[in-house]
Amino acid sequence: MPRKKTKKNMKDYNFSTKAVRAGSYRSQAGEHSEGIYVTSSFVFKSAHEAHSRFIGDDPGMVYSRFSNPSTDMFEKRLACLENAEDCVSTSSGMSAILCCCLAFLKSGDEILTTPSLFGATIQLFNSILPRYGITVKYVRLTNNQEWKSAVNANTKIIYLETPSNPLNEIADLASIAEISKKNKIISIVDNCLCTPALQRPLNFSIDLVLHSATKFIDGQGRVLGGAIAGRKELIDKLRGIVRTCGPCLSSFNAWVLFKSLETLKIRMNAQSESAIKIAQWLNNCNEVEKVFFPGLLSRSQNALAQVQQSQPGCIISFSIKSQKSTGLKDRAWKIIDNIQLFSKTGNLGDSRSTITHPSTTTHGRITEDEREKAGIHSGLIRLSIGLEDASDLISDLKNSLSC
Ligand SMILES: Cc1ncc(COP(=O)(O)O)c(C=O)c1O
Repeated sequence: MPRKKTKKNMKDYNFSTKAVRAGSYRSQAGEHSEGIYVTSSFVFKSAHEAHSRFIGDDPGMVYSRFSNPSTDMFEKRLACLENAEDCVSTSSGMSAILCCCLAFLKSGDEILTTPSLFGATIQLFNSILPRYGITVKYVRLTNNQEWKSAVNANTKIIYLETPSNPLNEIADLASIAEISKKNKIISIVDNCLCTPALQRPLNFSIDLVLHSATKFIDGQGRVLGGAIAGRKELIDKLRGIVRTCGPCLSSFNAWVLFKSLETLKIRMNAQSESAIKIAQWLNNCNEVEKVFFPGLLSRSQNALAQVQQSQPGCIISFSIKSQKSTGLKDRAWKIIDNIQLFSKTGNLGDSRSTITHPSTTTHGRITEDEREKAGIHSGLIRLSIGLEDASDLISDLKNSLSC
C-alpha cells in the first residue's frame, strides 16, 4: 500500500530548517533571496479594498508603520523559532520593553522585577514609569520565594532577563511561570543573551519573550531592532500599540535581521564553544577574582542553566582582585586599554568580540545604589565572545591581565 503523504507545517520542522525557511515570502517576480520592501504605503484596487484593509477584514498590507512584507517575514520566522503563535517587531529592544508597559499597565499598576537588568531598563522602570503612576517592586532574580511573596493585587507584569546582563544570573523559568499563571500576571522574559537558538522561555510557560534583536540576532553589529513573541491575543495588543505609537522596525532593518536568523544557531553555538574555553582560562587567571558564566556559577545556578539552556551562552563577566596600588576602576580601565583584538564598545552579540566596563558605560546612568543592587561594581569587566579563534582571544587577554 502506498504511504499517505502528509504536508508538514513549518512549525513541525527542526530549528535549523525553520531558521532558513520559515516566514519566507516571494513576490510575483519569483526572487529566491527575499526582497526588501522599501515603501511607506501600499496601493489598493478600490476604495472598498482600502477600507477592508484598514479595518482588518482584508489581511493585505496597508502602511509600513504597521504592515510591511519585510517586517512580516522577520516576525513570522522569529515566532516560529520561539515556538510562539505570533510576534511583533519594534525599532529597538528598549521600544519593545516600553510597548509592553504601554500595552499591559495603567496608573496604579505594579511591575514586579529584579535589579539584575540592563541599565536602560532600570532607568525606564525607575525614572519614567513612576511619572505615569506605575510602581516597580524589586526582588532577587534567583530567589523563587521572594518572587512568590512580592506579588500583590496590583502586580500586572513580571519582568526579567535570564541569563541577566552582565552577570549571567539564571532565573527559574518554570517557577516564575507558575507564579504568573496562578496570579494571572503577564510574565515577560528578555531572551537577549541566549536567543531562541539556546533557550526558548515559552516552552517553560512564560507568556512573552522579548528581544533586543540589535544583539545576537543581528550578530554583526549593524542595525537596531526589537521583537516580542507569544500568544496571539497578547501580540494583538502590542501590535495595536506599535501601530498607534509608531516605534516600528524599518523594512531594511527587518530584512537584515530576517537574513541573520538563518545563521543564528551556527553562530551562537560557535561563539558559545569559544566562550567556554575563555571562561575556563579566566577562571585560572591569578588576577581574576570571580568569573560569572554558566558552568562556573553556584551548583544550583549551573543546574538551572543546564535545564533551560542548550549552551552557556557567549557573555562572560569577570571581577578583578583589588590591588593595593591601584583602584579597581583604574585597573579595569587599564586592562581594557591594553586589549588589542576585542573591540572596546558598549554593544554585545557581535561576530567580533567586545569588551566593556559596565559600571561606567551600560550601567553608568543608574545611581550608585541601583548599581550596588544590580551587583555591578567598578572591578567588573564584561566580554561578549565573537567568532575569532578562541586562542587569539585568550592571548589578547593574557597580554592585558597579570596571569
Ligand atoms: C538585555 C538587554 N535588553 C535590552 C536591551 C536594549 O536593546 P536596544 O539597545 O536594542 O534598545 C539591551 C541593550 O544592550 C540589553 O542588553
